[in-house]
Amino acid sequence: MIRFERGRGRDKQYLDEKLKYSALFSQRRPLLDVKHIIAVASGKGGVGKSTTAVNLALALQKDGFLVGILDADIYGPSLPKLMGIDARPVIENKKIQPLMKYGLKLMSMGFLVDEGIPIVWRGPMVMSAVKQMLLDVLWSPLDILVVDMPPGTGDAQLTLSQQVPLSGSVIVSTPQDIALVDALRGIEMFKKVGIPTLGIIENMSYFIAPDTGKRYYVFGRGPLRQEANKRNVLFLGEIPLDPLICSTSDQGCPIVLEEPDGPSAILYSDIAKVLIKSLFLSKP
Ligand SMILES: Nc1ncnc2c1ncn2[C@@H]1O[C@H](COP(=O)(O)OP(=O)(O)OP(=O)(O)O)[C@@H](O)[C@H]1O
Ligand SMILES: [Mg+2]
Repeated sequence: MIRFERGRGRDKQYLDEKLKYSALFSQRRPLLDVKHIIAVASGKGGVGKSTTAVNLALALQKDGFLVGILDADIYGPSLPKLMGIDARPVIENKKIQPLMKYGLKLMSMGFLVDEGIPIVWRGPMVMSAVKQMLLDVLWSPLDILVVDMPPGTGDAQLTLSQQVPLSGSVIVSTPQDIALVDALRGIEMFKKVGIPTLGIIENMSYFIAPDTGKRYYVFGRGPLRQEANKRNVLFLGEIPLDPLICSTSDQGCPIVLEEPDGPSAILYSDIAKVLIKSLFLSKP
């Protein structure tokens, strides 16, 4: 039984949606001509999911794959800012044409509402928005759809796992214990809904001093690698706390594009290669 977020279940419809959990697997339908859907998730907010999702998507694309990004964060969409794009998608015959930037197909709630307008929605509306962005967007053809998840283990996560067969999740955590606990909760949640964790990434692991090149483990050396090993989850790597990752994201041109040969971009590319292997080459 999934343990859902507490204190938000007053709405009957909301509860009903959640109780549909028992029918979870039967509702899953593959997206036509989309080979893999992967979710980039974490338990905790602000650990770098969106930054990781966007850079991984670009790294996957550099390896010759057709890639899209679905920003499933309804309350706090980041994709428009991260990709430097602010436009309205065209709707034709009740289907939404995803936006294109840097060769990626993109969809986000941020393309549908003006920046700064708060979205005050209950759970069922969030669920239906995520469903629409999955099923009513013309994603096809795609090799990989990367879904940038909101923090936590709530409505968006549940909708995604109910509607489509996910190939797996990539969990992002920072080294602090408090993030680790939530990351492990995220792994458990995906496990309960039958979605494998493709791997776990430690973000903001260390800082390299620009003057000396010395590595500083600012938040200490977290036990993430060991915890992943214990659970038979692949540890995909450590991404440094790099001011360039932050500034390139803020400027709407992620580091994998802006400084493709730099050390951080290379780390994202290495992780993308491991993901490609487990998505496309793991089965005989
Ligand atoms: N490795 C990194 N080095 C430096 N800054 C980073 C790194 N990763 C993320 N950041 C910065 O940290 C902030 C939070 O990142 P991001 O928005 O990707 O987190 P998130 O987990 O998606 O947050 P939310 O839970 O709100 O969706 C951003 O300003 C981003 O630029
Ligand atoms: Mg985010």
